[in-house]
Amino acid sequence: MEPQVLLDLKNVNKVFGNNHVLRDINLQIERGKFITFLGPSGCGKTTLLRSIAGFYTVDEGEVWIDGKQVNDLPPYKRGTPMVFQEYALFPHMTVFDNIAYGLDIKKRPEEEIEKRVKGALAQVKLTGLEGRYPHEMSGGQQQRVAMARALVMNSPIILLDEPLSNLDAKLREEVRVELRGIQQDLGLTVIYVTHDQLEALSMSDYVVVFNKGAIDQYGTPHEIYYEPRTQYVADFIGTTNFIEATVLEHNEREALVSYGKETPTKVLAKVLVNKGEQVLLSVRPESLRINHPDGGEFCIRATVKSSMFLGEKERYFLEDNAGKEWIVDAYDIGQTHYTGEVVITASADKLHLIKKNND
Ligand SMILES: Nc1ncnc2c1ncn2[C@@H]1O[C@H](COP(=O)(O)OP(=O)(O)OP(=O)(O)O)[C@@H](O)[C@H]1O
Ligand SMILES: [Mg+2]
Repeated sequence: MEPQVLLDLKNVNKVFGNNHVLRDINLQIERGKFITFLGPSGCGKTTLLRSIAGFYTVDEGEVWIDGKQVNDLPPYKRGTPMVFQEYALFPHMTVFDNIAYGLDIKKRPEEEIEKRVKGALAQVKLTGLEGRYPHEMSGGQQQRVAMARALVMNSPIILLDEPLSNLDAKLREEVRVELRGIQQDLGLTVIYVTHDQLEALSMSDYVVVFNKGAIDQYGTPHEIYYEPRTQYVADFIGTTNFIEATVLEHNEREALVSYGKETPTKVLAKVLVNKGEQVLLSVRPESLRINHPDGGEFCIRATVKSSMFLGEKERYFLEDNAGKEWIVDAYDIGQTHYTGEVVITASADKLHLIKKNND
């Protein structure tokens, strides 16, 4: 049987001059999964992708692809095609020639090239358009040509560096769905780079969140969103409310915490904490409720300052007696509009304990 782990990064470090760009990257990626590298500009996403593809050699650590250590192999021997941030199709070449390019370079026989290009065209649903030039196609179609160019090489991993950044919002969403469909249909292993959180959450099997060249968290979109391990991850992905708290007691799964004048509450704790440690509780705006009859273990009085209509929900900005701001999303639009003093509640399982930032 083929090994499940397709890409194995062991303690990878990369330095440019005195800029330590990748720090102790350890990551194992399974065959057939869609993985997203997520993080703000400059955090090292492209650098890591290029290090996997072989355009950069790493300064420390090991890169394993399909059970082989590839540190010293050039890109064309690693077989990991990359679709670049500024995806460039050759404008003077037809779709067919664009897709055939990699095979031409490898000097494959003509019949084989013909067959493989036609196969790749069918996979991305562009059969019949092989005679067109890039400027005669929509942005989404061009993107699929770029995918076909990678597919035709029968590579173990396809690396996509922000491939949708040139498209408008609506088209991005369409191509996103298509890309994910192709990946699932063909069982491809894809690493996809983006700084768009929604893109990462909606497309991936696993998300890798980067913080200044290091991995802060690796997990499913659900884990990343609802169980952020660090303040950085909780802050970077979506909107959240933080509550300062102190650990009173803890075991491996739960912690008893106190915050403000409230009675102590038991919360899930997936990170290691110490008795007496100052921590944060993260609670998402959609997990809080206003004036809800069922209440919840977490309960606080606050005053509505303003609100904003966001289509499927109304976002409320509130302030409690201590002057702290709260953000709550209400989905019962049109039924109640909250004003003045209200009660905000949440059940304890919606509060997630995280470590405070060290810096
Ligand atoms: N070839 C290079 N030589 C020197 N420094 C580089 C080189 N490539 C990248 N860097 C630096 O490494 C850091 C990480 O860059 P990288 O391109 O990997 O970021 P990124 O996460 O892809 O950002 P973006 O979202 O803007 O594309 C930056 O500080 C950048 O200036
Ligand atoms: Mg980049």
